Amino acid sequence: MPLKLSPSLLSSFIITIIFFSEPISSSISSDDPVWRTIEEFSGYPTHPTSASLPSPSFSVDTETLQNQIDELATFSDVPAPAVTRVLYSDKDVLARSYIKKLMEKAGLSIREDAVGNIFGRWNGKDTSLAAVATGSHIDAIPFSGKYDGVVGVLGALEAINVLKRSGFQPRRSLEVIMFTSEEPTRFGISCLGSRLMAGIEELADALKGTVDGQNISFFDAAKSAGYNLNHEDLKNVFVKKDHYSAFIELHIEQGPILEEEGLPIGIVTAIAAPASIKVEFEGNGGHAGAVLMPARNDAGLAAAELALAVEKHVLESGSIDTVGTVGIIELHPGAINSIPSKSHIEIDTRDIDEKRRNNVVEKVHQSAVSIAEKRRVRLSKFQIINQDPPALSAESIIRAMTIAAEKLNLSHKLMISRAYHDSLFMARISPMGMIFIPCNKGYSHKPEEYASMEDIANGVKVLALTLAKLSVD
Ligand code: GLV
Ligand code: MN
Ligand code: MN
Repeated sequence: MPLKLSPSLLSSFIITIIFFSEPISSSISSDDPVWRTIEEFSGYPTHPTSASLPSPSFSVDTETLQNQIDELATFSDVPAPAVTRVLYSDKDVLARSYIKKLMEKAGLSIREDAVGNIFGRWNGKDTSLAAVATGSHIDAIPFSGKYDGVVGVLGALEAINVLKRSGFQPRRSLEVIMFTSEEPTRFGISCLGSRLMAGIEELADALKGTVDGQNISFFDAAKSAGYNLNHEDLKNVFVKKDHYSAFIELHIEQGPILEEEGLPIGIVTAIAAPASIKVEFEGNGGHAGAVLMPARNDAGLAAAELALAVEKHVLESGSIDTVGTVGIIELHPGAINSIPSKSHIEIDTRDIDEKRRNNVVEKVHQSAVSIAEKRRVRLSKFQIINQDPPALSAESIIRAMTIAAEKLNLSHKLMISRAYHDSLFMARISPMGMIFIPCNKGYSHKPEEYASMEDIANGVKVLALTLAKLSVD
């Protein structure tokens, strides 16, 4: 009697073959069983000539994916090509509905937690097992581009669609997550959704007193976006350690290495340690003409001097891996003919070496104290908002991503993420890995940010195959 395999059994079998067979070489022939299984898995017939076979590939719907990226970019507070989409703004709410609509279309069951992390789950054959998750964010800092985070959300949904179209049935459930507020724009807190998921109690407490630049509280802002929560609800966002068996994030590199080296895939081994600090100085202010220079205690100049001190301390670390940025300086009252009486500055510093990064933070603090003394202003705030350790990717996931890239004939390299991501916090509750794709000149956090659909599709394929592998493990 011939052996009959159900489509789901067959696709698990195919995944197994893809992962455990030898790498595909160009000497493979069209009737080779490995090729045939890949062809079947990819969901469309390929007609390789014996001389040059196309790379084994899944059928990524590139046209739809590009349209989705473009449509999501229209939910923005600034004109294209720039994108501004800030947490709980009207545009953020519209973008969230759009994502939920796409999750529904993909046949996922949707859940939202108290702060608006959105989860779309494809139930696996064994729902008692921990799920494999993937995802990223869709909020966008002021005047940024349309690919940061978005590729990891829309790309993840397309990876699910690729697997569904191929007839694959996961054993572990697969879940796409859209994280709330990876960007710190509104409340100064990066990775707000994933930090809470990782169960950081101090954040839940800090949110009680957190307001935005317009003095709107976190809870009022959330309410205006339809999330009517109170402090106790924040605890329900916490996720237990065994909830996910793996988390993988697809993201543009946001740096130039992959493009410069002509590589389609980066496999992230670690995420650098970020810290951010808010500082305020207060002086007497006064009339720009009448108050003579020796009588001044200018809070604005204290901020300017501290910004230069940040640069000095970072450069003094002696490592190219230490970076520091002063992206915000605000002066009060902000009039050309008034000596600033208050200044507010925000500092971002990062390093792959946590100790060295902490050393910079300490030196910046010392400088803030001495500048205040020298300029006779008051250092009214020196608040370390976050001082996070770096995160390491899990060996098992690095291996799965590497095998996926190899099976797809995509050259790749192991690399470090200098940008932070929700993965930094997911690593606290789950084995984590990240897939990078090249972006134009490494541009990010500006409107020129761009990734080609070919590169995005490669990333989606690697993600799909990695998810498939981890879901049958
Ligand atoms: C993420 O947006 C970062 O600033 O690294
Ligand atoms: Mn970003
Ligand atoms: Mn991002």
